[in-house]
Amino acid sequence: MEKPQENFENFLLQSNLDSVKKFFDKKQENKMDLTNTPWITLAVGTELQRLLKDRVISPGMKVLEVGCSIGVESCFLAKHGMNVTGIDFIPKTIEVAKKYAKLVGADVNFICCDFLKLEEKGLKGTFDFIFDQGCFHHVPIADRNKYAEKVASLLKREGIFFLRSFSNRMIPSPTNDGPIRLSSDDIYNNFYLYFITEHLYLFNNLPLPNPTSYKPQIFWSYLGRKR
Ligand SMILES: C[S@@+](CC[C@H](N)C(=O)[O-])C[C@H]1O[C@@H](n2cnc3c(N)ncnc32)[C@H](O)[C@@H]1O
Repeated sequence: MEKPQENFENFLLQSNLDSVKKFFDKKQENKMDLTNTPWITLAVGTELQRLLKDRVISPGMKVLEVGCSIGVESCFLAKHGMNVTGIDFIPKTIEVAKKYAKLVGADVNFICCDFLKLEEKGLKGTFDFIFDQGCFHHVPIADRNKYAEKVASLLKREGIFFLRSFSNRMIPSPTNDGPIRLSSDDIYNNFYLYFITEHLYLFNNLPLPNPTSYKPQIFWSYLGRKR
C-alpha cells in the first residue's frame, strides 16, 4: 500500500493547472463559505506590512497582487497610496473584493482571470511591485517557470517580487490536494534566473481562527529584485 507521503508526491507530479482549478471550483460548487474558509481573514499579512514599514514599498507604486481572493491586502496597499490591481480566478472572491473595496473606500482594479493566462499586452514592464500570498504554492511544478517568467515580464527593471507560501516544515496535506509545501530550493531555484534574492526566510504566520490541517503555520517569506 502507498504511504500518504508517496501519495502526495504522486499528486505533485501529476498535478496540472486543471487539477488546481478543480480544487478551487469544487469549493465554489460546494457553496464556498467565505466566512469559513481558512485563509480568508481580514488580517493584513505581517511580512507585507513590514515591507511598507521598511519603505521597500511606498505610495505611488504600481502594484499587482496575484491570487488576491477577497482583496484585503490589495485594499490595504491602495489605502496607502498605491495604484493596485488584484487578480483571482474565483469569480465569487472578486465579487466580494469589489464590495469590500467599496466598503473600506479603496480604489482597486480587480480582474477575474487565471494569472498564468493573463494577457500581458499593455502591462509588460509596468509594475513596480508584484506580490503573492498563497497562490504560487498551488501552481503545478510544470508551470512554475512560466509563473516566474510572467512575474518578471510584468515588472519594471529592478521591480520587486514578494512571495509568501507554505513551507515543507508544515505537515503534508492529508487530502493530497491543496497547497504544495515548498522547500527553499523550490523557491530559490525557480526564481534566481529572473531575480536577485534579497531575502528568503521561514516565519511563523498568524494563527488561523479555526484549527485545520494547515498547522503549524510555518511559511516562507521571499523577496526578489528583477535582474
Ligand atoms: C490560499 S488563497 C490566498 C488568498 C489571499 N492572497 C490571502 O492571503 O488570503 C489563494 C488564492 O489564489 C487564487 N488562485 C490560485 N491559483 C490561481 C491562478 N492561477 N490565477 C489566479 N488566481 C489563483 C485562488 O482562487 C485563491 O483565492
